[in-house]
Amino acid sequence: MKEQLAKIKEEALASFSSAADAARLNDLRVKYLGKKGELTAVLKQMGKLSAEERPVMGQLANDVRAALETALEDCSKKLEAAALERRLKEETLDVTIPGKAVSIGRQHPMNIALDELKTIFIGMGFTVLEGPEVELASYNFDRLNAEEGHPSRDWSDTFYFDEDSRVMLRSQTSPMQIRAMETMELPIRIIAPGRVYRKDEVDATHSPMFHQVEGMVIDKGVTMADLKGTLNTVVEDLYGAGTRTRFRPHHFPFTEPSCEMDVQCHKCGGAGCPTCKGEGWIELLGAGMIHPRVLEMSGIDPEVYTGWAFGIGLERMALRRFKIADMRLIFENDMRFLEQF
Ligand code: PHE
Repeated sequence: MKEQLAKIKEEALASFSSAADAARLNDLRVKYLGKKGELTAVLKQMGKLSAEERPVMGQLANDVRAALETALEDCSKKLEAAALERRLKEETLDVTIPGKAVSIGRQHPMNIALDELKTIFIGMGFTVLEGPEVELASYNFDRLNAEEGHPSRDWSDTFYFDEDSRVMLRSQTSPMQIRAMETMELPIRIIAPGRVYRKDEVDATHSPMFHQVEGMVIDKGVTMADLKGTLNTVVEDLYGAGTRTRFRPHHFPFTEPSCEMDVQCHKCGGAGCPTCKGEGWIELLGAGMIHPRVLEMSGIDPEVYTGWAFGIGLERMALRRFKIADMRLIFENDMRFLEQF
């Protein structure tokens, strides 16, 4: 029995110190010290011993048990320490490795152009308004003096939502004139930028969605001279002092008289070149004195108040501002293009 105990002790100690991890060590604990373990098996044979031998063997068995328990404790501590060491090594953070650069976005060229325009108009006392892209035809057409049958109301030009052509995607920012008249106190000075929609095929100068900036002033004694003076100031601010403009007669249902404003070609200075298609001038916006009927329909007395309005195409402005040849670049979101601004 003595030999048995000695053998168990020797084997157990050897196997403990070679255990690879805590789970394995626990298995060994069960194998030697558990209820069905080897040491317990030996102790069960104690009954066969003589009365003198029993306490001696009992003492010996207890010593072995104590030795094994101490060894287990030691090994377990060593394994824990080793595991911690390993984890610390695996999880070290190398603060000297260069970080991943965050790519910072930049402003879209059209927003740059819009911001420049806003800054100029805000400086002149204008308020910036925004309004719905899904608009009532009454705002987009009727109250802008474009009656039933007006060509711009045609289904082939306009995105309607309903059979009766009452709800639509606005085809211009001009309905914001009416919304401003409805909600604001006179005198009014506003600009209203935003998206507009028309059934146009995509090409270098067209898109079914594009941006306009509406401008409007209503006050007592406002004349066409104010319109020209204001727009000339804006153009010189944007394109440099001395930039020339030209006003041509035109027609819009909601202005009378109406005009279009051209800016002298920035490429050729007016001599004529491919950029201006040989004209020397580039069309920039539509404008005019607000039609008395439009004022009247919104409850403003045209005998007391007069006003002017303009609508400018923002893409066209950005193309000119950054000398971009094709409008599609504005919408394609190609990073190689956008990163240049
Ligand atoms: N809404 C007109 C267009 O889209 C532009 C315009 C605005 C003309 C205001 C006159 C006054 O063509």
